[in-house]
Amino acid sequence: MSLAIETNVPLAPLTTFELGGAAESFVAVRSEAECLEALAHAEARGLPVTVLGGGSNVVVPDEGVRGLVLAIRSRGLHLEEVGGASVRLRASAGEPWEDVVEAAVSRDLAGLECLTGIPGLAGATPIQNVGAYGQEVGDRLVSVEAYDRETRRVITLDRDACELGYRQSRLKREAGRYVVLAVTFELTRGGAPSIRYRELAEACPEGASLADVRRTVFALRKKKSMVLDPADPNRRSAGSFFTNPVVDADTFARVVEVALTRGLVAREEDVPRYPAGDAVKLAAGWLIERAGIQKGMRRGPVGVSSAHALALVHHGGGTTGELLALAASIRAQVEAVFGVRLEAEPRLLGPDGAPALA
Ligand code: EPU
Repeated sequence: MSLAIETNVPLAPLTTFELGGAAESFVAVRSEAECLEALAHAEARGLPVTVLGGGSNVVVPDEGVRGLVLAIRSRGLHLEEVGGASVRLRASAGEPWEDVVEAAVSRDLAGLECLTGIPGLAGATPIQNVGAYGQEVGDRLVSVEAYDRETRRVITLDRDACELGYRQSRLKREAGRYVVLAVTFELTRGGAPSIRYRELAEACPEGASLADVRRTVFALRKKKSMVLDPADPNRRSAGSFFTNPVVDADTFARVVEVALTRGLVAREEDVPRYPAGDAVKLAAGWLIERAGIQKGMRRGPVGVSSAHALALVHHGGGTTGELLALAASIRAQVEAVFGVRLEAEPRLLGPDGAPALA
């Protein structure tokens, strides 16, 4: 095999934000074997490595990325009956996530139907334990096959070893260490669809099938500009730019107090929140809007989606610097009003697993 390594490759077109500079060197790997070959190539030359998936949850620095950017383009879906109604679905890391959802729903396999319309590739999903509308990939994850750059071995991490949390995992915490090669899920043939998210339950037809639930979730996401659509003016984004903050009871009480005092809600129950064990998970989009940042606001070439306050949008001709300045000011405003600090969800692309944006 010979790798087609290119130099000075613009990364903006490979990301949904369409922002940022070029890769010093770049290779697209079309199989798991090619991925390992590219990693060996980088190791042999001491090149820093940055892994790029679908580019839908990353921010590329304006100055570009030094070292080798490895774009995962390996394909392959494999189904295995494991007894009873259980079926395992193994997806190569470069498989588009929507194809994985399609493979499941079209075969009447329950477990991923709410995760439709999410851009990106299968291999990225366990890294931040992708979740939406009441489901998380972690609910169905069996294992992750990955290359461990520390021990230089291909390993299999079972679900527990992945240490999954809300938009969190060991793969994310130990950024730069693991390169995901494939992901395996266990699904239920003929299983009932998951209809747990209130907005979904309200929109679903009576006796909804897996396909109905998938269709309904897709429509909800589309209304929020949370599916990739070339005709959508909010399309250059990374979905939610901030995670929903998980706060303690005291902080929650303070948020409620502010909301009541400012007349943002009539009753405590009107402050949206999700259950999160002893803590409370707040809705970052709600905090942003109630802190006085309008949906659709613009600051030059960047702004807030007109469909959802949690998505930042690039309108073209902008820079990553401008996007990050907007993110910082939104964060400061939410903190000033509610005393809650928002954490960015996308990853700042850079060698050796640059951390998520602070
Ligand atoms: N809200 C507002 N203003 C807005 C947007 C939302 O007040 O502009 C309020 C809504 O009225 C609702 C609450 O905030 O009460 C929650 O909104 P929504 O149902 O749209 O969900 P979210 O919490 O903003 C999360 C995930 C999404 C996922 C949806 C549905 C995170 C960071 N985001 O968004 O995931 O699709 O729930 O499950 O957890 C992503 O991670 O990129 C993503 C899109």
